[in-house]
Amino acid sequence: MKKLFSYALMSLLLIGLLAACGQGGSKDTEQTADNTGSDVAEKKILKMGTSADFPPFEFVDTAKGEDIIGFDIDLANAITEKLGYEIEIQDMDFAGLIEALKSNRVDIVLSGMSATDERKESVDFSDIYYSADQMIVFKKDAPLTSVEELAGKTVGVQTASIQEDKAKEIKETTDIKIDSRNRVPEIVQELKAGRFDAVILEDAIAKGYLDKNQDLAGFTLEGDEENGFAIAFPKGKDELVAEFNKVIAEMKENGELEQLAVKWFGGEQ
Ligand code: ARG
Repeated sequence: MKKLFSYALMSLLLIGLLAACGQGGSKDTEQTADNTGSDVAEKKILKMGTSADFPPFEFVDTAKGEDIIGFDIDLANAITEKLGYEIEIQDMDFAGLIEALKSNRVDIVLSGMSATDERKESVDFSDIYYSADQMIVFKKDAPLTSVEELAGKTVGVQTASIQEDKAKEIKETTDIKIDSRNRVPEIVQELKAGRFDAVILEDAIAKGYLDKNQDLAGFTLEGDEENGFAIAFPKGKDELVAEFNKVIAEMKENGELEQLAVKWFGGEQ
């Protein structure tokens, strides 16, 4: 009887031991599989298009290096890191961004791009991550106080931007000459050189230029609706857009988005 009992005990122990081994074994393999998943196997790369001429959203600070930096770059990195993607940034003229999305040369665009109804016909947008107002910027030695005073003057805007649309709208009631350039620093340069009498820029960008150029000043276009910057995607990428929106919502909620605003332009304006 005693012997039988100890046999039973031994086999129980043995089973237990085997089971433990088995478990340990399978756990090990799982871990290896996990490791390959996160470390070794390559992350999915998202190609990001931007027009790096738009401080503080995307620009190259030549004093500091050649990298494209800014609010949008930090935002893109934060979102894609959370979702497990890697990004590859491609710099191009703002006017080429929508086409780059449509032809799938890029997967996402972060470029201070306003989510307009017209653009929504050819691309999809995330939720809005920044709201902007328009400003008229001019030289202090040729000051302006209203849109009406633009009559007979040359107004510079970036090609294919909503500022170009705004200029066309102004032209319907005020006789202005519109002149477009591909890159924002060029239009500011033309203004400083006296070839443009005014330029239209969004507030956060205008303020950056006003801080650095004591010869410039500006005023906000009152009664103009705010426009919202959003991330653009090729049409039909609903799952990707939803993933991005989820992270944007989290970042609004936990203050990360506000921290980025503080870092790049001293907070919400
Ligand atoms: N928000 C404006 C637009 O969507 C101007 C954006 C210009 N962005 C740039 N990176 N240059 O038309």
